[in-house]
Amino acid sequence: MTAKYEVHGSVAVITLDNPPVNGLGHATRLGITDGLQKANADAAVKSIVITGAGKAFSGGADIKEFGSPKALAEPNLLSVILAVENSAKPVVAAVHSVCMGGGLELALGCHYRIAAPGTNVALPEVKLGLIPGAGGTQRLPRALGVEPALNMIVSGEPVKSELLAQIPGQKLFDKMAASAESLAEEALAFAQSVSDTRPLPLVRNMPCKHPNGDAYFQFARNMVKGMAKNFPAPAKCVDAVESATKKKFDDGMAFEREIFINLMWTPECKALRHIFAAERAASKIPDVPEDTPKREIKSVAVIGAGTMGGGIAMNFLNAGIPVKMLEMKQEALDKGIATIRKNYEAQLKKGKLKQDKYDQRMGLLSTTLSYDDLKDADMVIEAVFEEMGVKEKVFKELDRVMKPGAILASNTSTLDVNKIASFTKRPQDVVGMHFFSPANVMKLLEVIRGEKTAKDVLATVMAAAKKIKKTAVVSGVCDGFIGNRMIEQYGRQGGFLLDEGCTPAQVDKAMEKFGMAMGPFRMGDLAGNDIGWAIRKRRYQEKPGMKYSKTADLLCEKGRFGQKTGAGWYDYVPGKRDAIPNAEVVKMIEDHRASLGITPRKISDEEIVQRLVYSLVNEAAHILEEGIASRASDIDMVYLMGYGFPIYRGGPMNYADQIGLFNVVQTMKRFAQNPLDDAKFWQPAPLLARLAAEGKTFN
Ligand code: NAI
Repeated sequence: MTAKYEVHGSVAVITLDNPPVNGLGHATRLGITDGLQKANADAAVKSIVITGAGKAFSGGADIKEFGSPKALAEPNLLSVILAVENSAKPVVAAVHSVCMGGGLELALGCHYRIAAPGTNVALPEVKLGLIPGAGGTQRLPRALGVEPALNMIVSGEPVKSELLAQIPGQKLFDKMAASAESLAEEALAFAQSVSDTRPLPLVRNMPCKHPNGDAYFQFARNMVKGMAKNFPAPAKCVDAVESATKKKFDDGMAFEREIFINLMWTPECKALRHIFAAERAASKIPDVPEDTPKREIKSVAVIGAGTMGGGIAMNFLNAGIPVKMLEMKQEALDKGIATIRKNYEAQLKKGKLKQDKYDQRMGLLSTTLSYDDLKDADMVIEAVFEEMGVKEKVFKELDRVMKPGAILASNTSTLDVNKIASFTKRPQDVVGMHFFSPANVMKLLEVIRGEKTAKDVLATVMAAAKKIKKTAVVSGVCDGFIGNRMIEQYGRQGGFLLDEGCTPAQVDKAMEKFGMAMGPFRMGDLAGNDIGWAIRKRRYQEKPGMKYSKTADLLCEKGRFGQKTGAGWYDYVPGKRDAIPNAEVVKMIEDHRASLGITPRKISDEEIVQRLVYSLVNEAAHILEEGIASRASDIDMVYLMGYGFPIYRGGPMNYADQIGLFNVVQTMKRFAQNPLDDAKFWQPAPLLARLAAEGKTFN
């Protein structure tokens, strides 16, 4: 049973009991309606309390039922709420901890509500591209007031119960309990006190007015338009709440329903729901059970206090975990620490960090020049120069000093983690932790699973990632792992586009219009064009047959490495990040094009987007088939969290699924006909070809 029924004196108590957050799944909904029937049939019962067991009143819809027919099976949530409203005996919601989404809508259907302080109250549907669908947009404005309700519905953010209880005139909470501990007892007493009150109050009967409705909703629409331009749901929240002030309750409910159902089918909503599921899926590793015992990480060591080492250290300091940094020279340590300090001080100045937190974090940081000082760390992350010889030296030292069971991680972005592991006598403890720059900001962490990496090491690293608030995705060992292996193909297409007639600004503009945080050339300038150059030089040796545009090499030969040199594909003014087109670069591209005998053609934005995005998709299909990634949605997470792919498109794989893989393959075949492109690359990956032929999707 996922709802319990008990009678305490004259009060029946229905306790939702569907861990972890008492999601309103079918069995739970049935438990509520059954309980209501029993209570109404029992002459000894005078009133009813609905509450939640464990860590929540209710978190809303049961995510296990998402997309299944069970989610809509009767009694659906609307029917449950109707049954609550129609109960002849008063129903009191006793809410605590978490009261969100459908959970709040259920509480709003009850005759009375008593809340424990500290309850997180929210209607978060907008975060999934929806509006509340069980009366939230109609009842919350009546109970709480139009403006605070709209703020909650549009933002989806939780607000503490005690703050809501202070809103003048609010009728959301009839009573605040003194504490979470006393809630149950106070709810019983409250239920007894209202057992004879008639008629029973219903939120649906409360008035819903705004003194300056037209002006206010116009203002709200303008605000929302600016903030959520690529998402339709926030504006629809405004429409729905406005209707609560203008329509009769039941008409407003019908309007809410209509909006909800229409939003459900929008690509943006599908993308957000896909991401919601993808984020949860990414933390699970198919052959590593969730109950795998984890090693304890109470202290961390970082080798190398450069760009990455400093950012990595900050992640752990922010989570309250002590960090010891090792460098070869004191000056390097001093420089690294100064950068960390500068970063924190900037946050301090902006008011994003309090002085005591700053002191605490800096207090957790220590430095050393000697490996022997690291021996007690539970985890060590190496971020030294990207050279196998240097990594070999470091890992041999780590193998010598680290205590047994310590996790030895490398932040390498290109090197073979199996090889790195082989430098130690404990390859089972070695793993890749590929952070993205700036490491204290970027959400993505690729966890590189070596051939011999132990399961408990993986489980521990995934848990540590969560602790430092990263989205971790597991990747097998291959050149570039998931993200950079794909970006290489994307960059190659960018080069061909220049050769065929585009300017960098044209390509960037098309991709930014598509929704990328940055087009490929601005991204190259940010990351440093020298990195791609080094990789290409290696490729020219390893894969002499592979086709590349030489334009980027010409740019690097001029020393135009990007923002760090003040010049790349664009020019930069010191201290600013604005990309200013440079006529000489455009001339360089044109001259090179002419030297190849290419007559430039006008290339549409559509072709630019398709070539760049489908190059990601095709390489990703290879990655998936080779088992480097375990699911398509993991690849989407990598691109959403690490490469600025637009959230409302749900990642490259989700985007391809929505276009239809058959269509994607047809377009690739067309690209293969272009003599200036790479026909071999555009052969659809076998997995992609198969799925397209079978009319299936990646996800
Ligand atoms: P960096 O050059 O800024 O820093 C490297 C630091 O390691 C320097 O401070 C250097 O003094 C120190 N170091 C070198 N050899 C050492 C040794 N034997 N013992 C102790 N310290 C030593 O380099 P960055 O950019 O921080 O890169 C570090 C690693 O992170 C590389 O493996 C790189 O591929 C990887 N990475 C870099 C990213 C980036 O965007 N910069 C992104 C993801 C990974």
